[in-house]
Amino acid sequence: MVLCSADSYDLMSRKAAIVIAAQIIAKPESVLGLATGSTPVGTYRYLVDFSREGDLDWSQITTFNLDEYRGVSPDDPHSYHWFMKTKLFDQINIGKSRTFLPDGADENAGRACEKYDTMIRDAGGIDLQLLGLGRNGHIGFNEPGSCFIKNTHCVNLSPSTIDANQRFFNGCQEVPRQAYTMGINTIMKAKRILLLVSGMEKADILHKVIYGPITPDVPASILQMHGNVMVIADKEALSEMQ
Ligand code: F6R
Repeated sequence: MVLCSADSYDLMSRKAAIVIAAQIIAKPESVLGLATGSTPVGTYRYLVDFSREGDLDWSQITTFNLDEYRGVSPDDPHSYHWFMKTKLFDQINIGKSRTFLPDGADENAGRACEKYDTMIRDAGGIDLQLLGLGRNGHIGFNEPGSCFIKNTHCVNLSPSTIDANQRFFNGCQEVPRQAYTMGINTIMKAKRILLLVSGMEKADILHKVIYGPITPDVPASILQMHGNVMVIADKEALSEMQ
């Protein structure tokens, strides 16, 4: 695991954008795994800037997002489809038919999840997977539990995740209770993983992810088993490391 420190959220975002940009330049037909949430917003801003400056061509890039709320349609402003459209896809030259998220509008969880894994496989797998870290150690929406769940699946969001995500809604009651998420195996099959962590409230969990035991209680701890992980974290997130 390569651990890279950044003095601020902005510098973390810039470094992450440079890593992703290098991947796109080195392999213009890359398959990228993308994340939503607050953490990657700055990274997407930099990627949009690099693209406007003419440094990046997304025309052959394919993307797969980690997750989507169940029962939420793509044009709902709370959906992750909407998040990706507004924060990134509408501002770069990516073909919309090459951007994929789990189909939250499909209430048939088994069908929606199986289809998603098949699509990732058919695209040749993920070259670089971007991840944020949940306060409880989740990656995607793989919540702490008694086992690691392999494939894309439907998950009941934990109270801590519902609480953390209510800032995007009008209160806790409005946060969907379920989501479709890539599984741990889906994530671990990515050739490279880039984990971004920002803020004091993630310091304790980041320490457990890197130095603690590998356990489904801290889902991101499984990343210790991956051979090509880069963690970029800001000073606050690294404050427990000494
Ligand atoms: C988002 C995702 C989640 C977030 C995590 C951190 O697609 O899968 O795992 O990365 O909840 O969220 P933020 O960045 O909002 O702290």
